[in-house]
Amino acid sequence: MDSFEFNKFAGAILLTLLVTLGVSILAEELYTAHTPEKPGYEVAVAEEEAGEAEAEAEEVVPLGVLLASADVQRGEAQARKCVACHTFDEGGANKVGPNLWEIVGRTIASHEGFSYSAAMREHVNAEGNTWTYENLDHFLANPREFMPGTAMAFAGLRRADERADLLAYLQTLSSNPVPFPAADDAAGSGGAPAAAETAAPPTTQ
Ligand code: HEC
Repeated sequence: MDSFEFNKFAGAILLTLLVTLGVSILAEELYTAHTPEKPGYEVAVAEEEAGEAEAEAEEVVPLGVLLASADVQRGEAQARKCVACHTFDEGGANKVGPNLWEIVGRTIASHEGFSYSAAMREHVNAEGNTWTYENLDHFLANPREFMPGTAMAFAGLRRADERADLLAYLQTLSSNPVPFPAADDAAGSGGAPAAAETAAPPTTQ
């Protein structure tokens, strides 16, 4: 009798275990079946967006290539968006923002007599703390995203070609202009040595 009772018990427990196992396998299958679905959707959405948003598609073009066909005159027109806060001439005054003469190649947050935010004073990126075409490009696309806490209240230039034009204009603000990164630099962000080796006299003037 005792062993019969025991068998009933054991059977019940076994059944419970089996059901639990079955449910967990089913749940797992449902779960894993969902996982591949998600990326599938995301890719589709991303492709759609890339197709629609012109600016996003443009960002794939390396900066060197964009700069090679950038236009100083168009850049000067873009720079009108800055003149409320910046002067561009040699020895020009600091306004809401610092004077931008010789900004390319200048140490970040180094202009005399301007009191920078802590965000800008403490900013050091992968290339160090010098303004290059690459980090100027990133900064001007979205100042607050590139440098959270910056005091520069400017929304940014979303279009990569417009930024390239502006950079071409900034290049001219110097008695010794910094050459553009090479157009065949696929990454568009070659280190200083590579840029210096291939540096031809700036063609866009
Ligand atoms: C509303 C005012 C305003 C506008 C518009 C503006 N800036 Fe600025 N900019 C600032 C301020 C303020 C700073 C200093 C930011 C800080 O200290 O965080 C600054 C800093 C900078 C710096 C860093 C300078 C340095 O010495 O390190 C660059 C480069 C720059 N601005 C470029 C531009 C360009 C190019 C435009 C136009 C496309 C522009 N800014 C538009 C206010 C402005």
